[in-house]
Amino acid sequence: MSSTDPDVFSEAFREDPFPFYAELRSERPVYREPRYGGYLLTRFDDVLEALLDPETFSSAQGPGPAPSSAMNPPAALPATDPPYHDRLRALVSRGFTPRRVAESRPRVESLARELVGAIDEEEVDVVPALSIPLPVLVIAEMLGVESERLSDFRRWSDAFVGLLESDPTPELVSVAQELIGYFRDLAAERRERPRDDMVSALVQAEIDGRRLNQAELDGFFIILLVAGNETTTNLISNQLRILAERPDLWKRLRDDRSLVPLAIEETVRFDTPVQNLGRQTTRDVEIRGVTIPEDSRVIVSYGAANRDPEAFEAPDEYRPERSEKRHLGFGQGVHFCLGAGLARLEGEIALNALLDRFESLRPGDGLPRRLQSTVIRGFESLPLRVG
Ligand code: HEM
Repeated sequence: MSSTDPDVFSEAFREDPFPFYAELRSERPVYREPRYGGYLLTRFDDVLEALLDPETFSSAQGPGPAPSSAMNPPAALPATDPPYHDRLRALVSRGFTPRRVAESRPRVESLARELVGAIDEEEVDVVPALSIPLPVLVIAEMLGVESERLSDFRRWSDAFVGLLESDPTPELVSVAQELIGYFRDLAAERRERPRDDMVSALVQAEIDGRRLNQAELDGFFIILLVAGNETTTNLISNQLRILAERPDLWKRLRDDRSLVPLAIEETVRFDTPVQNLGRQTTRDVEIRGVTIPEDSRVIVSYGAANRDPEAFEAPDEYRPERSEKRHLGFGQGVHFCLGAGLARLEGEIALNALLDRFESLRPGDGLPRRLQSTVIRGFESLPLRVG
């Protein structure tokens, strides 16, 4: 990859996209990326404008950055436009109100304490120890999934993130079928014997006077599974990686827990777990003198927007107490992250559980391994030293 023609889908970009974002923001804010010919938006104002105009920047062809993304279950929330989108979203939004999120606090705290309590080595890979299991357990309980199926759950969720960026391999297709089969069985069971969980609520829900059809139900299960897992996992990992390099901040956080929510929010800005997603133009549209033709793929880069010096003072510095609070890490507009409150709660609780138990956090001897994803920024493995 040359720095003059950065390829968003390349490994080098994934490793450290920020210098490329900086160059693109200042030199080519509407950048025709070379691999698929999509238009990459990197400035805060441009990304925001696209997110706030779903009529022009449609989600109907899926949420992935690549143009012909296979992750297009027709009825999944991020792959629909208003007004249909808003009716679908209303069906699940009840499960994510601030009150519902607050009610889940004691359960999330006890899960986090259990996971942190089980750490019994000085060097620990926090990804399998905490970042992965906490969000998986939380969303599985919300949906009503049996705990025996949790490892399957994770495997399914990984496969779906793969589908955001590449055409499906036979293996991915078979995993997708497994997941959908599982949820269809669970839905049938809950139709017979409803419980107080989200699968029961969805099988009883109505839209325009009718029950949800199979494609709509499948879409919900997939999106709640994927959107809630990979994202929160990497918020936790990214947070810990930052703090492992900042012993001063670890100490301050231990002494003053009111900083914890600010640190979490700044991590979503600084090391945005969802870096890039996509839209499709429904008409010719001009941005900064560049005409993007109708039916073009547009990549909205939350990760680049969140480092825009026009929107944030010293954007490449990690400052939990910064005064600019409005970042785009949870998106904006009609698709604003439904799980933002839950993600913040899980992030805070995971960090507090570690702060309660450990005086220090440092990089481990083992090397961290980054996820190879264009969408999600985070780690496959992150060995850290706790003491
Ligand atoms: C740190 C964690 C998270 C981050 C960074 C994140 C980020 C995002 C972003 C950027 C979007 C906008 C997508 C778009 O513009 O097309 C989104 C949408 C969404 N998120 Fe999250 N998310 C997180 C956690 C969660 C959790 C925990 C859940 C649920 C359990 C969740 C559920 C959703 C859903 C359902 C949507 C689609 C909303 C719609 O299309 O109306 N997310 N998320």
